Amino acid sequence: MQGDAFLKCIDPDCGMEYPIESTNVQCEKGHLLDVKYKHTPSENLKEVFYDRRNSQGNIFNESGVWRFRELLNFCQVDTENIEECSKFLVSLDGAEGRLSKPYHMGKASEFVGISNDNLWLQPEGYNPSGSFKDNGMATAVTHAKMVGAKKIVCASTGNTSASAGMFAANEGINCDVYIPAGQIAPGKLSQAYQFGAQILEIDGNFDDALKQSLDDAQNHDGYTVNSVNPFRIEGQKTIPFRALEYLNWEAPDWIVYPGGALGNTSSCGKALMELYEWGWIKKIPRIAVINSEGASTLSDLYNGKFEGEELRWNKGKPNTELITRYYDDLDAKGIRPKTKATAIQIGRPANILKGLRALEFTNGVATTVSDSEMLDGMSVVGLNGFDCEMASGASVVGVKKLMSEGVIKKDDTVVGILTGRQKDAMLPVDYHHDPSNKFAKPPKN
Ligand code: F0G
Repeated sequence: MQGDAFLKCIDPDCGMEYPIESTNVQCEKGHLLDVKYKHTPSENLKEVFYDRRNSQGNIFNESGVWRFRELLNFCQVDTENIEECSKFLVSLDGAEGRLSKPYHMGKASEFVGISNDNLWLQPEGYNPSGSFKDNGMATAVTHAKMVGAKKIVCASTGNTSASAGMFAANEGINCDVYIPAGQIAPGKLSQAYQFGAQILEIDGNFDDALKQSLDDAQNHDGYTVNSVNPFRIEGQKTIPFRALEYLNWEAPDWIVYPGGALGNTSSCGKALMELYEWGWIKKIPRIAVINSEGASTLSDLYNGKFEGEELRWNKGKPNTELITRYYDDLDAKGIRPKTKATAIQIGRPANILKGLRALEFTNGVATTVSDSEMLDGMSVVGLNGFDCEMASGASVVGVKKLMSEGVIKKDDTVVGILTGRQKDAMLPVDYHHDPSNKFAKPPKN
């Protein structure tokens, strides 16, 4: 396996390659990177992955991430040698991704207006730090450990910091977290404190915090673990892997995500590109990205709402100047991303180009939903006995909206990803105190 994995620039005209030990998150020209593997994995692995669900005490089989380790083997370990795996692979005792799989949730299907057999919702909130981030953080911190990093660094709207802090504490390395001051739910931030992360408060929003964290990581020997890190994307591929495995690798028609920095969109796109190229899936599911109305960069650009041009990956030649002009226009008008779903309050999605590539490959769509719709989506998930946060509610109401527009058809099969667990304690309390909310059950006295 020596030399199987390497890094490659996503721009087909550039295509710069780097050794797997590189810690750059961009090529020299500033383009994002992909982790690439030279060998095509055997389809027999489907059976191996399934058998590992009987973990027999092996934490790398228990882990919903490392169960698929042959498809993320950038460390080039002997995947059956547990001692070797233990030396390299970072895991919270096998807990990352372990409880995540798709479920039918009858009350959510009824609200969406789709048959219960056709809608699957996959809670990622039952990850150890409470969100999907643990899938990608296990792999990013594995790479950090492989290169001997002493400190990991991230910007966060909450969940990334919780996940980074948790893995850093577990591995005994330092963690710096840049946050937009006053814009993070206390419940989210408290985890980063609990895990001993160093918080740095930035006067600005998430986009400003990310910029500063990337600069500081570069200048002060930090290892960036935001989703611009291509190793984050590798771990997050296991979200669609688990969904597909559960559906016997019969691809659904749609996979739906809330859209923030677009790491999930990018990782789902990469997973589907790989699986399709290897012949593991015969059909390509379409990705639907659901932005909040108050932070709608992807949806605006993709749907031609800015200057009338529909921004596309365009086979690797996207109109990046259109993106720059869009950002300049937001700045000129003083428009800042604004939504109660702070997890996706992001105006400059760092992975926008990978996101566009994913949408092009999957013939995907992007749309927006309002804060009150997301709260309804979040609340109806609860009525099935599952917890999720407001940003995750976007997946549910996004499906509803796309069905009402005839984009998602009644007999399509849909997998919606519920990205995180409720950490903003007052959101459900406030929602249920207001009888005008659709699913409100106000307290009695
Ligand atoms: N859902 C939740 C619960 C999130 O925390 C995030 C991102 C997203 C969706 C958006 O995912 O960036 O892959 O499009 N939260 C980040 C953070 C930015 O810092 O925790 P994406």
